[in-house]
Amino acid sequence: MCSFRKDALVQQKGTYSVAVKSLRPIYAGPATDLRPQTEKVAVPNQTLRGFSFIDGVKKAVEAECPGVVSCADIVALVARDSVVVTGGPYWNVPTGRRDGRESNASEALANIPPPTSNFSSLQTSFASKGLDLKDLVLLSGAHTIGISHCPSFSSRLYNFTGIWGKQDPSLDREYAANLKTKKCKSINDNTTIVEMDPGSSGKFDLSYFQLVLKRKGLFQSDAALTTSATTKSLINQLVHGSLKQFYAEFGVAMEKMGKIEVKTGSVGEIRKHCAAVNS
Ligand code: HEM
Repeated sequence: MCSFRKDALVQQKGTYSVAVKSLRPIYAGPATDLRPQTEKVAVPNQTLRGFSFIDGVKKAVEAECPGVVSCADIVALVARDSVVVTGGPYWNVPTGRRDGRESNASEALANIPPPTSNFSSLQTSFASKGLDLKDLVLLSGAHTIGISHCPSFSSRLYNFTGIWGKQDPSLDREYAANLKTKKCKSINDNTTIVEMDPGSSGKFDLSYFQLVLKRKGLFQSDAALTTSATTKSLINQLVHGSLKQFYAEFGVAMEKMGKIEVKTGSVGEIRKHCAAVNS
């Protein structure tokens, strides 16, 4: 399939035909650059971290046991273990996934909900993968760790709904003012990092949910969880429950997410390098 794409483009002598364009919906490179836009370069993935760590694990595994362990399994296992390292929950990661033979930026863009999502788009997006509202709340709880970049939420501070100077009324005013003076000082800031759970972003605790209830969730998608009675009540239950309970339920949701559209058997491949499909 890839060589067909390449030949088709070469025959065009550097000019795009409608046929070639439609085969590759997102293509920003020059006519001579025949590489498709991969998942990795899709907008929602541009701030992902940890690629060299995954490559290191893959290298070590390949040295011991070549061609057996997929990158999909490695990513799932490393995600679990990085949560364990923060002192967070442990969950089972059934293995046997195989890697995709394709990687398309357009698919990543279509399947990863943006931080500007409202409740109904989050619900639809999760439901399309078999995840319910409880999964949505629990999995959003992963925002108890990690960081964000200003562009993920600066429209809430500077031009909410496209109106310059307007602030998202669902964001705590004091928190918004603080973000504007100390973190994202302009709407063009795309380098400053901001903890999603300030002060405890290295700890897998319940404080993300507490912040969301105080209108201090960083993304519109976090705030959206309080706009439905069902999800708000789930958050309240978590906040008033124990950490142990959250850990157990989070683990169950992660196992469920880890089973979505998994390739097994002879479908897909075991990639040699996680960054590229095998040639
Ligand atoms: C509900 C829909 C979700 C939306 C809209 C969303 C959105 C985002 C955004 C915008 C960022 C920050 C990107 C940046 O500016 O650098 C982020 C970070 C993060 N998200 Fe989500 N997310 C969602 C669900 C999830 C789920 C299901 C998980 C895992 C179970 C998760 C785990 C994380 C983690 C760990 C980070 C921090 C990454 C880092 O430290 O580099 N998120 N998310």
